[in-house]
Parts: sequence; structure tokens; C-alpha cells
Amino acid sequence: MIKQAIIPLAGLGTRLLPLTSVFAKELLPINGKPGLEYILDECVEAGIEEIIFIISKKKKMIKNYFYNDSFYKKIIKKKKDPRIINEYKKILKYKKIIKFVYQNKPLGTGDAVLRTEKLIKDKYFLMLLPDDLIIKKNCSKDMIKICKKQKTSVMASMKVSKSNVSRWGIFSINRKIDKNNFLIKDVIEKPSIISAPSNNAVIGRYILPKSIFKKLKKQKPGKGGEIHITDSIRELIKDGKKFIGHKFLGKYLDCGSLNGYIKSGIEISKL
Ligand code: UTP
Repeated sequence: MIKQAIIPLAGLGTRLLPLTSVFAKELLPINGKPGLEYILDECVEAGIEEIIFIISKKKKMIKNYFYNDSFYKKIIKKKKDPRIINEYKKILKYKKIIKFVYQNKPLGTGDAVLRTEKLIKDKYFLMLLPDDLIIKKNCSKDMIKICKKQKTSVMASMKVSKSNVSRWGIFSINRKIDKNNFLIKDVIEKPSIISAPSNNAVIGRYILPKSIFKKLKKQKPGKGGEIHITDSIRELIKDGKKFIGHKFLGKYLDCGSLNGYIKSGIEISKL
């Protein structure tokens, strides 16, 4: 039912400077494997057949990572190292299902999503934000099941500390569907502590409806002058479109900040 996923990768990664002045944060190794590969594995295991990367000219390194065939062939011919052969096979598998679109100015996540419009085929598609790793349980797989059953959009959610609400998209609940799923009443991008309707935050897994593109085209810049996906989701909810907040069962790791990135490596090494 949901066969396509999109991954926005065109951000500047300022929280990981100076590393990100020369390197794409999504390729930084977490316990020896690029963060992005954990996200790809989650997609493939969830049954996704096509993954669209939104990159920029500055992040061309990400495309090069998957398109380095002549280099691998030369090395493998010389060394016949089984580890390198396996890694190359894995990269070839990923490459077959990845497409690239460009967002050369980081105008916000909403603008990044809009770049994929022409490629999206079905009523719903999955979006994963690569800074947000969820381990121990495949969150995308669980969300796809919910979408299939309830025939609605779904967003991953978790409770965050009240003092931190302004880092996230925060939603209020209309009603409970079951222990881990709620119908969302409203969602606000990065609210102040006073204006936050709760401490339920949206985490980087979304099943979005194709109808989001209509809203994105009209979306004005919001917080920080960026076009946020949350603002268009809010518009859809106002129009009566249902969104479920799914309290995911895995463990959340924040790879977008330096502290979080370091902790992620430690957590994953314990698996
Ligand atoms: P973030 O705003 O959390 O990350 O975007 P960032 O901009 O990369 O990093 P900081 O905040 O400066 O440290 C969430 C995701 O959306 C992508 C980012 O690459 C990241 O994966 N993104 C963000 C885009 O693709 N385009 C944008 O215009 C903004």
C-alpha cells in the first residue's frame, strides 16, 4: 500500500559544525555504519520499494556514496576482500531503489517535500527525517500497518520534557484510539513553553497524504522564516483530514546534535 518513502537531506546541519562544513551529517558513522543506512534498512524492512532523497549541490557527496562503481570495481579486482565485496553489493541494492531530487536553498522541510511532488504516485507516502533514529522496533513498519487499518495519515510521537517543547512540532489530542494511537486535534511548530498545547512531540516519521502538496504550494514561511511541513499538516487537519499520532515502541536517538550523535553510537553499540 505504501511503497514510496522520501528523505529530506538538504539541510545545513549547523548543530554538527564544524563536521558539517565539509561532510554530510547523514553519512557520519554511527557504530561504524552511516546514519543514513539505518534509515534505509528501516524502509526496506517496512516494504518500501522506492526511496526519494532530497539533496542539494552541497550534499552531492550523498549521491557519490551510492554512485562510486568504478572505484569499487577497481579495488575489488585488486584485493578480492569479501568485506568490501559485501559492502559494494549492499550499496548496489540501495542504489537500485533510490532517486534524487534537488533543493538547493534550504527553505525548510515543507519546501523539501514539495520537490518530490512529481515522483509521488500513491495516495500516501512515508517521510523519514534522518536525524531521528528509532531502534529496537521498526517504527515505519508499525505506522504503515496503522495507515492501512485506519486509512489515515500517521505521525510518530513521543512525550518530551516541557522545557524542550520549542524544539519540536507539538500536538494536542482530539481523542484516544487505543493505548498507543491518538487522533490529533492540532499541531504547532516549535511553540513557546506557554503556547504549547501539550508535551506530545512529532518525531521524524510521517505518513503523509498526497493532498499535502496542494497545501505546500500555498504555504507561507513560518517559524524562523522556514516553510515547515507541520504548518501544511495543520492546514489539512483544519480541513478535516485525519492524522493519527502514534506513540512508537522503539527507542529514540537524536543524531542531529553533537551530544545526541555521540550517545547514539554508544546506544547502538550495545545492541
Ligand atoms: P533540521 O532543521 O532538523 O536539520 O531538518 P538541519 O537543517 O539539517 O540541521 P541544523 O538544524 O542546522 O543543525 C530536519 C531534516 O530536514 C532536512 C534536513 O537535512 C534534515 O534531515 N531539511 C531541512 C531539508 O532537506 N531542507 C531544508 O530546507 C531543511
